Amino acid sequence: MVKITVLPGDGIGPEIVREAIKVLDVLNNRFDLGAEYEYAAIGGAGYDEAGDPYPEATQRLVKASDAVLLGAVGGPKWESLDKPLRPEAGLLRIRADLGLFANYRPAKVHRQLLSASTLKPEVVEGVDMLVVRELVGGIYFGQPRGIEARDGERFGYNTMVYDESEIERIAKTAFEAARLRSGRVCSVDKANVLECSELWREVVTRVHQDYADVELTHMYVDNAAMQLVRDPRQFDVLVTSNLFGDILSDEASMLTGSIGMLPSASVGEQYALYEPIHGSAPDIAGQDLANPLATILSLAMMLRFSFGRTDLADRIDAAVEAVLDGGARTHDLGGGTDSLSCSGMGDAVCAKLEVIGD
Ligand code: IPM
Ligand code: MG
Repeated sequence: MVKITVLPGDGIGPEIVREAIKVLDVLNNRFDLGAEYEYAAIGGAGYDEAGDPYPEATQRLVKASDAVLLGAVGGPKWESLDKPLRPEAGLLRIRADLGLFANYRPAKVHRQLLSASTLKPEVVEGVDMLVVRELVGGIYFGQPRGIEARDGERFGYNTMVYDESEIERIAKTAFEAARLRSGRVCSVDKANVLECSELWREVVTRVHQDYADVELTHMYVDNAAMQLVRDPRQFDVLVTSNLFGDILSDEASMLTGSIGMLPSASVGEQYALYEPIHGSAPDIAGQDLANPLATILSLAMMLRFSFGRTDLADRIDAAVEAVLDGGARTHDLGGGTDSLSCSGMGDAVCAKLEVIGD
């Protein structure tokens, strides 16, 4: 028996998570997965329920479970709250609290969706990369930070900081991941300007000595942003800091046609959390329009990474491919007037799951 905490969150979060849970139910009923799940609040939902975007009850529950599935957080309703009470603060706190330092964001082009990308099909065809983003350090968490007044005007400041051990562990993560792929790592930094990046590059290079079978290159972040749209196929594993990874993974997602397709895993020594990389999309929330595939694929990552159920993860991946092959498209995938709803897409995946491999 494995225990999952489900954190639907805000906006489209509850809708997309509902579809992933339908998939989980099929795996439980038909394939004896034996997963128990319990819901808890995070983000704006946490604030509404308990006055805290990462309520204590949620903290207790996630620490007593084997894995966490999260929808999305944020929305205009909570934007005017003090920063520590905003939904995003809850997300950053759960990442830090669970020590989820390694964020895996695979960006793979599904051939059925080639025309959904804003880039030319010949540029994005075959793209299959993994962004490994450091998730609990860097400028997101560095001290000091703040907004203060000096000489009659206010100034805002943050600190980009990494210590050697933080860089070492994320570098190892990336090299290990590359060994399971095509064996290439590109480390992205801004070492021509930032000391923090200078140390990053030095440490990544040192860690690489233990991974001589993996090829390592370095790239400045501005060039990486450009190369991602110029020739994205050159990348296999891309390893980078929290802020650069935030930006580059959004960019990488658009290569694949829609950010609505991309799952992620955030992993630490002890805990793991799975979530789609897109946000809470308040503009379409509650309308059954969202694409649940990123969340369903995040569940597949959970089965693979946390539960070692490669068989079931493969089944989900195959069901998603089959559904796309059959022409099913949500709105974001250019479905037009024939678009499937969020629940329609979830049902389609469940229906394929039932028949695949038999
Ligand atoms: C992400 C998001 C978050 C981040 C926000 C919602 C705080 O953009 O997961 O990429 O910046 O990390
Ligand atoms: Mg982001």
